[in-house]
Parts: sequence; C-alpha cells; structure tokens
Amino acid sequence: IGGSDMYRQQILDHYKNPRNYGEIEDATFTHVGENPMCGDTIEMDVVLDDDEDTIEAVAFRGDGCAISQASASMLSERLPGTSIEELREMDRDDIIDMLGVEISPMRVKCAVLAEKVAQDGAEIYLGEKDLDKTRTESDD
Ligand code: FES
Ligand code: FES
Repeated sequence: IGGSDMYRQQILDHYKNPRNYGEIEDATFTHVGENPMCGDTIEMDVVLDDDEDTIEAVAFRGDGCAISQASASMLSERLPGTSIEELREMDRDDIIDMLGVEISPMRVKCAVLAEKVAQDGAEIYLGEKDLDKTRTESDD
C-alpha cells in the first residue's frame, strides 16, 4: 500500500480489527457483492431509520485483502447518520480519500466493493434498481 505511514497503519488496524464485523438481525436490507477480479465477497446488513432516509447501523462480513476489508470497516463507521442521498452520491474518490492511501488501478475494485454493496443494496431495497440484480460486482 502506498501513502503515508499513518494511513497505512490505520488500514492495517481496520484489517486486523474490523469494526462492525458480523451480522445485524432484523436489518432493513442485506446485500452481497463480489470483486470480479478475485472472487472475494462482502455482505452488508444495513438498518435504516423509520423514514427510510437515514442509515442507522451497518454490519459487514466476508473476506478479502486489506484494502477491501479496511474500506468496509471504515465505511461501517462512517455510514451511520448518513442519508441515503449522501450514500448515493458517494463515489470512488470519496472512498480513496477515506482510505488516505494511493490505490493502484488494479486495487480500485477492492477499495470500492463495500461502497457499491451499500449503494446497490439501498437502491434495490428502495425499488430503484432491477430486482434481478441481486448481486453486486465492484465493476464501474
Ligand atoms: Fe496493500 Fe494489498 S497491496 S492491501
Ligand atoms: Fe479480493 Fe481485494 S483482492 S477484494
């Protein structure tokens, strides 16, 4: 991983001690996605508030490299309190900023996997995306 030591340490810390790793029973929705480059998957449980416009809690599970796991872990801390609208507007640059390290083109799919799972899951749940698309790929 390129970039400053502090951010590198932070990524390794999230990788070794992932935050919100596990399941949420009675989640509003659950969605799974795969990085097509390696086959690693991340599954996410998301709880929305009663109005279904703000994220209250997130849990994730799955496996993958340090970048994908750290990204999911950091996102799980960042998303609670975020509106669906803000989630929808997130893009790869936000994720790369969040990670704070240089991400090689090969690794972008690792970095954005969790974000795409959350976005697709929300859009499918809210009926804005094809219900047949039950599985996300971190392909742009
Ligand atoms: Fe840095 Fe894999 S190369 S996490
Ligand atoms: Fe599989 Fe990064 S190598 S998610």
